[in-house]
Amino acid sequence: MIIKNKFHNIFWNIYAFFYDNLTLYYPAYYRQLNQIYSLIKNYLNKDSIVLDFGCGTGGLLKIIEKEVGCIIGMDRSFAMIKRAKRKVNKSLFVIADANNLLPFKKESFSLITVINSLYMLINPEKAIQDFHSSLKSNGRLIISNPLWKPSLPKIVKALFKEEGIIRGLKLFFRLFLVGILNLFITEEFKKEVFHSYSEEELTNILERVGFRIEKITTTYILNSNILVCAVKVSPFTPGGCKRGKKF
Ligand SMILES: C[S@@+](CC[C@H](N)C(=O)[O-])C[C@H]1O[C@@H](n2cnc3c(N)ncnc32)[C@H](O)[C@@H]1O
Repeated sequence: MIIKNKFHNIFWNIYAFFYDNLTLYYPAYYRQLNQIYSLIKNYLNKDSIVLDFGCGTGGLLKIIEKEVGCIIGMDRSFAMIKRAKRKVNKSLFVIADANNLLPFKKESFSLITVINSLYMLINPEKAIQDFHSSLKSNGRLIISNPLWKPSLPKIVKALFKEEGIIRGLKLFFRLFLVGILNLFITEEFKKEVFHSYSEEELTNILERVGFRIEKITTTYILNSNILVCAVKVSPFTPGGCKRGKKF
């Protein structure tokens, strides 16, 4: 497991060199970011203290950093953080591996975003517990995570269907190297090293840990991701007493 974890660290550092092809050109990626922004904008103000966990090259940080009091991007990959730093001015950065303990004090954040950065953790439920203790009471946790094991042929087919042949071909070549790296990701899903969760599985985990589901929907290409907004319930409200409404 330790060797595999080290190998994953190398993988994400290599991915950093190609990741912005995704953030710049892949329509499903930036549509997802817009959807996330619409979901969280009401929670952003000059008093908010936000953690973007697994911030990658800073796509979300760039959108929200001007609206919040303090924002921290955390990622295990030095190369991802280096690129994120070039995009954003106000954010602080932490390089750390969440497979160890999260390096934050209890009740530090009003909002934590975890966008496509939960599935690769060795123990996602433990990370969700760490997010819970790092959040202030009534703080929000936003997670976007695959609902099912991703399949590259399905994704490529959907790309051509959504974008048409000409744009689809342009995107296919632009995103070719990202696609090759994603082959590794899909293999890890097949081997169940990476984790997808159904709506029921993820809500059960969140409620067990002490969150109430506030909103839940799907996002990303083929609606392959679940997008959840969960609230850290105050100690007097039992978790799981209310299911979130769909929107
Ligand atoms: C698919 S990218 C998502 C990046 C960003 N959230 C976005 O949506 O563009 C996954 C990110 O999680 C980071 N990551 C993977 N394992 C991690 C870990 N154990 N601790 C912290 N970050 C991790 C990777 O380095 C990578 O930047």
